[in-house]
Amino acid sequence: MRLIIQPDYEKLSCWAARYIAKAIKEFSPTADKPFVLGLPTGSSPIATYRQLVAMHRRGELSFKHVVTFNMDEYIGLPEDHPQSYHAFMWDHLFSHVDIPKEQVNIPNGNAADILQECASYEQRIAAAGGIRLFLGGIGADGHLAFNEPYSSLDSVTRVKSLTHDTKVMNSRFFGNDISKVPSTAITVGVKTVMDAREVLLLVNGHAKARALQAAVEGPVSHAWTCSALQMHARAIIVCDEPSAAELKVGTWKYFKDIEAEHLDPDCLLVME
Ligand code: GLP
Repeated sequence: MRLIIQPDYEKLSCWAARYIAKAIKEFSPTADKPFVLGLPTGSSPIATYRQLVAMHRRGELSFKHVVTFNMDEYIGLPEDHPQSYHAFMWDHLFSHVDIPKEQVNIPNGNAADILQECASYEQRIAAAGGIRLFLGGIGADGHLAFNEPYSSLDSVTRVKSLTHDTKVMNSRFFGNDISKVPSTAITVGVKTVMDAREVLLLVNGHAKARALQAAVEGPVSHAWTCSALQMHARAIIVCDEPSAAELKVGTWKYFKDIEAEHLDPDCLLVME
């Protein structure tokens, strides 16, 4: 695992956007050979998405031959609800770039047959050739997508019940009313993420410090599903300093030293 410790959220977002753009460009995607990108929602990726949009507007990045798969979606929330992950993705990324609508995949939380939707989502990922780069965030309890603590590390796309803690955390998007937060979601599994060729997690803020410590220094455990990344051959976590607060000084120094040439200190977000 690589750990890129950045001073703040802006720098980590800039680093992530540059990394994603470089990966897409180096792949030289075409209609026959699209770049398959896994994507998260949540507050963590917002500035990264803003930066990707800015790169697109400057003519530096195209999504014409990018196929996306989102990590999760609430069950039963209308797609046009402002807090649906469909709405989030169009608001923050898809509406502002040149991705064709048919290349966007988000689990359908309103499907008549939810189990069939889960199975077909995995089939669609496989049919696209697998995910090349899976971008993700983590919850304060270490959940990856909606793989809450004690989710199987061998899980694939399925229905999960959200923990009380996650509902409390996410109630900030629902007028702080926990009763308005859906109780279930369709989520890719830990294995779905692990099957990606490469994984890039964005972690920011002190509230994530315990989760980051578990992901990097803890044992691989279903109690912190993000820790599964230790078993991935090409996993990167890019974090800010507040979220790195629980790491041992030795761990911090090790990654600061070994990644010194790759920290890209001049990386600045384009604010529009
Ligand atoms: C949600 C999403 C996760 C996300 C997590 C963290 O529960 N299902 O994919 O990583 O929240 O969200 P945030 O980035 O807002 O902290």
